[in-house]
Amino acid sequence: SIDMKNKVIGKEIIHFDSIDSTSNHAKAIALEGAEEGTVVIAEEQTKGRGRLGRSWVSPKGQGIWMSIILRPDIIPTHAMKITQIVAAAITEALRKFTKDDVLIKWPNDIVLHKKKVCGILTEMSAEIDKVNFVIVGIGVNANMDETLLPEDVADKAVSLAKYMDDDISRKEIVKEILYEFEKLYMDFIESRSIEKSIDICRQYSATLNNTVRIISRDSEVKARAIDLSEEGELVVEYEDGRVEKVFSGEVSVRGL
Ligand code: BTN
Repeated sequence: SIDMKNKVIGKEIIHFDSIDSTSNHAKAIALEGAEEGTVVIAEEQTKGRGRLGRSWVSPKGQGIWMSIILRPDIIPTHAMKITQIVAAAITEALRKFTKDDVLIKWPNDIVLHKKKVCGILTEMSAEIDKVNFVIVGIGVNANMDETLLPEDVADKAVSLAKYMDDDISRKEIVKEILYEFEKLYMDFIESRSIEKSIDICRQYSATLNNTVRIISRDSEVKARAIDLSEEGELVVEYEDGRVEKVFSGEVSVRGL
């Protein structure tokens, strides 16, 4: 158990030694009515999932594998906002444990020394104009045995332990993440704005002021990332001066 100051996020924490995927379990219990803020956490995932149908290696005790159930009153196209709130909260939390640069690679990777230390998987159950619930999946590489990683990600991933000041337990890190997340999430619920989170995402961005590639079905165009919008989109400027907001999935960030 974790002793928490939070009112909503982590009020209920369900812990597993081993499970297929914390996000699968969170979804199953959300469908049965589990409350907003319920956290599912596991020591090991046997079928951890990443973005774009990839798998997520989640060995026992080597990372933080957890999912949070949220029930925000938003429209489906605004789900991106949640990802930005989570990214900001994780960054604030991890920065307490390492002096090294923790940055956000828009929209949902947290990087440490340019390598991925954490991934966020935001999924939702929604109707056309209304979100029923959101499952936020968070995977933090804490002290990974790098030989377990697939070849294509091994040189792109890093463990927090490698740059941490002291030997800090995963429990302490979970507590900080949930604490920072509750602050920013409740601010969003009350103000209906993610301004606070976006400010943090701007301040610690690995993407802004860099060249990105905008990928569409049959072309790839270079642009410069110039800002983040209040909806969580990336604002880019093309070489001809045209400015546009892009959603995740359309952008590949170069040089990281
Ligand atoms: C990514 O592709 O970067 C997102 C990775 C998300 C992994 C986490 S671990 C906890 C939760 N359960 C899953 O199956 N995936 C997410």
